[in-house]
Amino acid sequence: MFIMPKICHKFLIHQGVRVSIHINGKRGDVAETVLLPGDPLRAKFIAEHLLQDVQCYSQVRGMYGFTGFYKGQRVSVQGTGMGLPSHSIYVNELIDFFGVKNLIRIGTCGSFQENIKLRDVVLAMSSCSESNFNHKTFKGMDYSPTADFGLLLQAYNQSKEKKKNIHVGSVLSSDVFYNEDPEEWKLWARHGVLAVEMETSALYTIAARKQCRALSILTVSDSLVTGEASGSLEREQNFTDMVEIALSAL
Ligand code: HPA
Repeated sequence: MFIMPKICHKFLIHQGVRVSIHINGKRGDVAETVLLPGDPLRAKFIAEHLLQDVQCYSQVRGMYGFTGFYKGQRVSVQGTGMGLPSHSIYVNELIDFFGVKNLIRIGTCGSFQENIKLRDVVLAMSSCSESNFNHKTFKGMDYSPTADFGLLLQAYNQSKEKKKNIHVGSVLSSDVFYNEDPEEWKLWARHGVLAVEMETSALYTIAARKQCRALSILTVSDSLVTGEASGSLEREQNFTDMVEIALSAL
């Protein structure tokens, strides 16, 4: 018998079981390790080109989720959308409803430093933010969202093996892509922040809260220093490198 799911605070009840709102599928459909690209079509690309025995477990809002195998290891890949709020919804649900333990964001960033060039890889050791996301949680106090050291170290070693130009340090997780103040990034740059993106601070905070491991691996797609940006073909190749670094870091 089908019982209409009813919304109950922050989950649905379906046939007497709590289920997540933004991801379809049941516990067991998602692997313990999940790669998190912002773009759902990137999730599809990874599933189709890099994984074997793939199953699509979710298409809610077109935000694809797939589970398959990479070199015999079960892994999932889930699109999250852009920005802290969207990213945080998927991270919360993956952990709470699907028992995910290892979360690796794979994305792009804009360089703040002259020595960090297009196509370089940035491993986010920690994250700064001007977002209200954590201000609200920590009631105005500062919290330092930090990567899992084991994942960070493995990803670093893998990147070196792939002969990538690699940088490890702090990133800015921003709420604003089109900033009204074109000079604001220089404040962060002066304080050693390597690059800007829009998700890591939420990922690291939620993972820490729920005793999970998290890492953001980012390819430099543009530079605020020089104004350059990479084309779509380059982005694809860089993307594949990043996925391989992520998968072999596990
Ligand atoms: N701003 C925010 N996020 C980004 C950027 C940027 O310039 N480049 C890639 N992700």
